[in-house]
Amino acid sequence: MIKCNNVQEQAQDLSAQMFERWHALLLGGDFVLGEEVTQFETWMSERCNGAHAIALNSGTDALFLALRALGIGPGDEVITCANTFVATVGAIVSAGARPVLADVGDDELISVDTLEPLLSARTKAVIPVYLRGRPVNIDAILDLCRSRGVAVIEDCAQAIGTTIDGCQVGTRGDASAFSMHPLKTLGGLGDGGVLVTTNLKIAEYARSVRNHGLENRNESVQFGINSRLDSLQAAALNIKTRYLDQWLKRRTEIAAFYDRTLCDTATGVDLGGGKPGNAYYHYVVKSTDRDRLQRYLAEQEIQTAIHYPIPIHRQRAWLSSQPQIVLPNTERLSREMLTLPCHHHLSDSDVERVVLAIKQFERLGARVAI
Ligand SMILES: Cc1ncc(COP(=O)(O)O)c(C=O)c1O
Repeated sequence: MIKCNNVQEQAQDLSAQMFERWHALLLGGDFVLGEEVTQFETWMSERCNGAHAIALNSGTDALFLALRALGIGPGDEVITCANTFVATVGAIVSAGARPVLADVGDDELISVDTLEPLLSARTKAVIPVYLRGRPVNIDAILDLCRSRGVAVIEDCAQAIGTTIDGCQVGTRGDASAFSMHPLKTLGGLGDGGVLVTTNLKIAEYARSVRNHGLENRNESVQFGINSRLDSLQAAALNIKTRYLDQWLKRRTEIAAFYDRTLCDTATGVDLGGGKPGNAYYHYVVKSTDRDRLQRYLAEQEIQTAIHYPIPIHRQRAWLSSQPQIVLPNTERLSREMLTLPCHHHLSDSDVERVVLAIKQFERLGARVAI
């Protein structure tokens, strides 16, 4: 089976190094906010051009704390898109604000065209999502938002390795949220996340509130939450950081191969349109016959995925609490898009097999009953 992700393989390859590091941690007893966490934060800060990096329990918490740090809560509106993981919208609701969902373009991304009509006097922030590790047109969004006094929180959960002008994204807005969930290109063996910001006040808020506002073991200056990145996870991440760039390079090679070989098919190439700086967290194509294509590929032992089959505004969580809305492009894309395998454990012959199977499906076309 050609797998759509390499979570297990990634962990297994590095298990000896991890056990060694965990053993040292076990002997040292540095379990909470210790040296491993500091080392990971330093790496993340360097990756993000010297911005503050605060390691947290999850990307969801990074979004939530960014909203809270900006004072966003009840009575405020925050605009984002509906074709994202539910956490983006969940964080807005957890902060007490009202989520407002914008439609996306054919590249599956929010843009000034889709979000500008939704800006109101109540809009306090916009959360553009770097979906699939694709670069968002952040400068245009920032120009619009800054001219209206609206904050920008970049959802970089899927965007480790995504660059604009050669720089890691996540430092242009007021704050950004990265996820180190195991499925991510740089993932731990459990939950993890980072809030990145160039704003010292936001950084200080997140650093304090992630640990109950504690200044020392006994004194708290503000009530907060427990959102500390676990030292065991930080240790695993500190090993993986050494390999990240080589993994990203392999994803780019695979994407370039798909681009070259699928460009003349009906299925076509990645919906991101081959823009530079794409980290290819997902390589996503579309087909009006998507479900049959997926079943056909599964029969050929090729695993694919659909991220996300139910847009947020069609989730029961939304329908039970928010007004019904229609987002035509988001809905069409949710019916048509398909994530192909794209990770560093794929060999050249694996990706050739994926392409051949897609071409074969198109040749057989309507004649096969799948
Ligand atoms: C776009 C997006 N936003 C937010 C999150 C939340 O991150 P986490 O699972 O680390 O809380 C994810 C995680 O999958 C995501 O893909």
